[in-house]
Amino acid sequence: MSEVIINAEKWVKSLFASDTTGHDWYHTDRVRKNALTIARQENADLIICELAALLHDAGDDKFHNSEEAGRLFVMQWLEKQSITRDDKIKVMEAIDTVSFKGGFNRPPEHIEGKVVQDADRLDALGAIGVARCFMFAGNKGDAMHIPDKKPREEMTKEDYRNGESTAINHFYEKLLTLTSSMKTKTGYKMAEERHAFLKTFLDQFYEEWSGKK
Ligand code: ADP
Ligand code: NI
Repeated sequence: MSEVIINAEKWVKSLFASDTTGHDWYHTDRVRKNALTIARQENADLIICELAALLHDAGDDKFHNSEEAGRLFVMQWLEKQSITRDDKIKVMEAIDTVSFKGGFNRPPEHIEGKVVQDADRLDALGAIGVARCFMFAGNKGDAMHIPDKKPREEMTKEDYRNGESTAINHFYEKLLTLTSSMKTKTGYKMAEERHAFLKTFLDQFYEEWSGKK
């Protein structure tokens, strides 16, 4: 493994050691694995994808006072690494476009950005996606499900981050919209099965909720 990957792994492990919002080290590690799987199929640069996947949440504005502060945090770390300036720019470009932010972020331009974005989104789908959604909602103080509360159709970036919702409504507000926005063929194929699982989960959830099962 290259030195910069080993350094990134150590750094990010220490940053996310005690996270309980669904962004723990294992999330990053799964995104790295998904990114490598997709990158191999899509002929993307493996080191850029792996490094950007490892760093993708380190500078997220959820964990910093502003988007700029988060970017700077990662850039300062990258500056100390012995990779080319071009590679640093490519990694930053991928990280800048990865986050969902309620759909308000600009889309990735390079294949490496697309790979890492798909890899991150896959972790919001399937069984892991369900688990992370309920972790996130509990942590934020949202309810599991309120039948009278309908999913929000239009949201500002601020509403998406801080507005009140429920874990079940998050399926409609975000999770079920992800598959159609996958950026690579490989990512899309991987997403389809996980998407189907979300629907199966919801079907069974409503049956149990209503006492039919
Ligand atoms: P973003 O915060 O930009 O949506 P993340 O990838 O950081 O994207 O989200 C982390 C995980 O938490 C994802 O699985 C996401 O679906 C979930 N999540 C984000 N916002 C909510 C929410 N309001 N309620 C439930 N889960 C959420
Ligand atoms: Ni992430």
